[in-house]
Amino acid sequence: MSIRTFRWSRLLALPLLTGVIACAPGAPRAPRDPGPRSNLAPNAVARVLSQRFDRAQLAHLPTPLEEMETLSADLGGPTILIKRDDQTGLATGGNKARKLEYILADAQAKEADVVITWGGLQSNWCRQTAAGAAMLGMRAVLLLSKRDEGEVVVDGNHLLDEILGAEIHLLEPGSDPATVAEEIAASERAGGRRPYIVSVGGSRTGGSMDQPLGAMGYITAFLETHRQAMDRGAEPDYLVMATGSGGTQAGLVVGAAAIGAKTKIVGISVSGSAESIRENVANIATQTSAALGLNLAFQPDDIIVFDDYVGEGYGMLTAGTVDAIKKVARSEGILLDPVYTGKAMSGLIGLVEAGFFREEDTVVFVHTGGTPGIFHYGEALLTWMGRGQ
Ligand SMILES: Cc1ncc(COP(=O)(O)O)c(C=O)c1O
Repeated sequence: MSIRTFRWSRLLALPLLTGVIACAPGAPRAPRDPGPRSNLAPNAVARVLSQRFDRAQLAHLPTPLEEMETLSADLGGPTILIKRDDQTGLATGGNKARKLEYILADAQAKEADVVITWGGLQSNWCRQTAAGAAMLGMRAVLLLSKRDEGEVVVDGNHLLDEILGAEIHLLEPGSDPATVAEEIAASERAGGRRPYIVSVGGSRTGGSMDQPLGAMGYITAFLETHRQAMDRGAEPDYLVMATGSGGTQAGLVVGAAAIGAKTKIVGISVSGSAESIRENVANIATQTSAALGLNLAFQPDDIIVFDDYVGEGYGMLTAGTVDAIKKVARSEGILLDPVYTGKAMSGLIGLVEAGFFREEDTVVFVHTGGTPGIFHYGEALLTWMGRGQ
């Protein structure tokens, strides 16, 4: 069954099948087919990237592409492969390592000696920025926003930020990190240092980053994944991954479009509405392709995002997420996190169960990391799983 002949009635059963709380499922968007495409050879895309953008070597690449044999068999659906971007290195791996290769190279080219960025207390982005900055001899200043007035427990990513030597500022709920970042940058400049400001997730331009450099890392990730899949004998029909600030999905979209691949890129939202993410991703993808001289214009309707698996909000556990974490750990020995990859996998499983994919499809789950977050959710996970089960 193709995406165009998808049975809508089956999607309505998604919350029941996945145990997702709240959020009635929205209708999946059939993307314009084939959407903006060029037909460059993968080597030509890689060459343009390396000619136009500096890249620092921070990540362990290529990451493996493996088959999830037991999961595929259990679900009785498509062939499911997993792209192990949780194995990129840089202080326990994750998607930000690929983004930071381009972003921190830009910071180096601008002779920055301190990188200022922000995120939540358990930000994977901040942790990998701190690690990348340490590798390149820069200081990292992290603005970590508290979600509420409660006591801050230093664990998971936050603990790693401390170990990595980042300068940490805790922001009260409601304060604007971009403004605080500018204030800190001003005082760094007054002290004779050269700050580089990059916004949360490294996806959007702004601050010191005038090109969408984060997405560049996921163009190369697409090319790498596509080549690995072709070597195994099948072009992927779909890549599925967690989507938040949108840079990862945008890079994959541009990578697929640049080489004219048939692969569709499916984002599973971990927080925002599908509508807002589709718009963000389309904007970042359009900017990214312009920066490469491809000039492909993406519209929100070209971007596939499901927001049916968010549950009660960002970082809030759902039954589907906990089931997915257990299932993948116990069938494949692979760890997913509660905030991003567990939710994304609950989406993938929900879509398989709803008949979104054809049995003969090859679906690649991009494991974008997030491992340290598991340790922040210890008690909650045990409770949701039912202790000892
Ligand atoms: C583990 C993990 N997966 C996926 C994402 C989403 O990536 P993006 O912000 O590029 O959409 C993030 C973002 O923080 C992340 O930490």
